[in-house]
Amino acid sequence: MDAFLKRDIYTFIRGKINSILFEENPDGVEIVDEDGYIVSCNKAQAHLLQYLPKEIIGHHITDFLTEQHKELFKQKFESLKEGKSIDFEIELVRKDGVSIYIWSKVNPIKGEDGHFIGAIIYNRDITSYKRRESALWGDLERYRAISDGANDLIQCIGPSRNFLYVNEKWRKTLGYSDEEIVHLKLDDVLSPESLPKCKEVLEKVRSGGTVTGVEIVFITRDGKEVFTEGSINGYFRDGKFIGTRGIFRDLTERKRMEREKAELQERLLHAQKMEAIGTLAGGIAHDFNNILMAIMGSTSLMLFSKNRNDPEYEYLKNIERMVKRGANLTKQLLGFARRGKYEVEPTDINELIEKTSQMFAETKKEITIHRKLTPDLPPIEANAGQIEQVLMNIFVNAWQAMPGGGEIYIETKKEKLGTVTSQVYGVRPGTYIRCSITDTGEGMDKETQKRIFEPFFSTKERGKGTGLGLAMAYGIIKNHGGAIEVESEKGAGATFHIYLPISERAISRERKRKKMLVGGSETILLVDDEQQVIDVQR
Ligand SMILES: Nc1ncnc2c1ncn2[C@@H]1O[C@H](COP(=O)(O)OP(=O)(O)OP(=O)(O)O)[C@@H](O)[C@H]1O
Ligand SMILES: [Mg+2]
Repeated sequence: MDAFLKRDIYTFIRGKINSILFEENPDGVEIVDEDGYIVSCNKAQAHLLQYLPKEIIGHHITDFLTEQHKELFKQKFESLKEGKSIDFEIELVRKDGVSIYIWSKVNPIKGEDGHFIGAIIYNRDITSYKRRESALWGDLERYRAISDGANDLIQCIGPSRNFLYVNEKWRKTLGYSDEEIVHLKLDDVLSPESLPKCKEVLEKVRSGGTVTGVEIVFITRDGKEVFTEGSINGYFRDGKFIGTRGIFRDLTERKRMEREKAELQERLLHAQKMEAIGTLAGGIAHDFNNILMAIMGSTSLMLFSKNRNDPEYEYLKNIERMVKRGANLTKQLLGFARRGKYEVEPTDINELIEKTSQMFAETKKEITIHRKLTPDLPPIEANAGQIEQVLMNIFVNAWQAMPGGGEIYIETKKEKLGTVTSQVYGVRPGTYIRCSITDTGEGMDKETQKRIFEPFFSTKERGKGTGLGLAMAYGIIKNHGGAIEVESEKGAGATFHIYLPISERAISRERKRKKMLVGGSETILLVDDEQQVIDVQR
């Protein structure tokens, strides 16, 4: 920049300063040009450095800094050019060689064209305050060796809530380096909920109290929560408050274990409840089924001898229809109660999904199905018809949850369940095929999720749902030695995960020959525990 232009800028800057009452300011104030050369300074600044103003003007600002702070200042000065003001603590060297601590606030100055042309710096002497801090620091040094070996988080905080000391465990747990800790404030490492609590505690210890059993949640450098319980007390010198000491025990792992235990307990209770409902529902369904079979048989026999024009024909037909509906209900309940024997064979789950989802997609054009099926998966030990029913129930629910249409994503994957996860899902440890079905529907809240597998639990209006679809799916999957789980949020769709154990056998491609029904003169032995059922079957 040529000398003339520079002088113009100086004049411009001086013109600006003249409008500010800076001479009488108790803080040191200095003006520097864009390269950091001092253009002007007030009396307080000269007094701070014990020079005359004319001995300061024209020097570079870093000429008055301690060696180790020159570089720091240069970096800070560069960042000014982005137009934001900055503040920091720095050490200056007086004419007599004594170094003093300064809190500096630097505001950039922009020229008429908006370019950075210099800065105005306010300097406040904080030396005496710093000395008090370093006295505390000296004492702390003595305890450092002991506290670094401690298994608790130990911290000492200065009055401006900066960290004067933290021990090894604190650094490791929260993940900050020594350099970073220098610039940290207490507020940077606390969870938003712990902040007000901590401020309250600080007020108490300022007046000499000790606070114990305080629960504080710290936040690590990478944003994780650390649950602690600790005690905090004030640190005083000559009766003056100079900081706080806190010792905190990390309870995160304990909390996690407690939470896991509670979750497992809840799952166990849920499984027991489902088991009990299953026994009850199964018992009722079995008896009802027998009753219905007897009614059905009798009705059929009566219909046999009735002519279509008979006035009673329609009544009997009606009975038959109602009995069929009842039988359908009991069938679903029996499915949930895991009664009945199903033939299982090694089955290709991908093939089954392809077939069922295609069939479903053909009837529901407003739904788009996306499949991400891992190829060459080992077969599962399953009854294809039953698994198809499970898939269909889930698809229908998804469709009902997306009244305006939507997407269904189906994914299959091989997964190993270890001892812990398998215990959570209530299955044996081993290799499973996970089939996940996600919809983009209305989703459900946690309370609904807890109950969806119960028989007769439905949020649908009367006549739209009996609440047996997922109960049956649950029974079928459990019967296959698998697990079914739901993951959802209100308004954000739902995902059903089905785990099915893999089969040790290979899939037999041989088609079973259709058996023909051939009547003969055999004697048939009828066995049933209900006389009525036997009567009608005769
Ligand atoms: N994909 C889904 N999105 C949102 N809610 C669902 C979903 N699937 C199931 N639900 C909830 O779970 C409840 C129980 O489902 P379930 O299939 O057992 O019964 P239903 O669909 O109400 O009746 P049914 O299947 O017997 O006709 C539903 O009423 C609904 O509240
Ligand atoms: Mg349903």
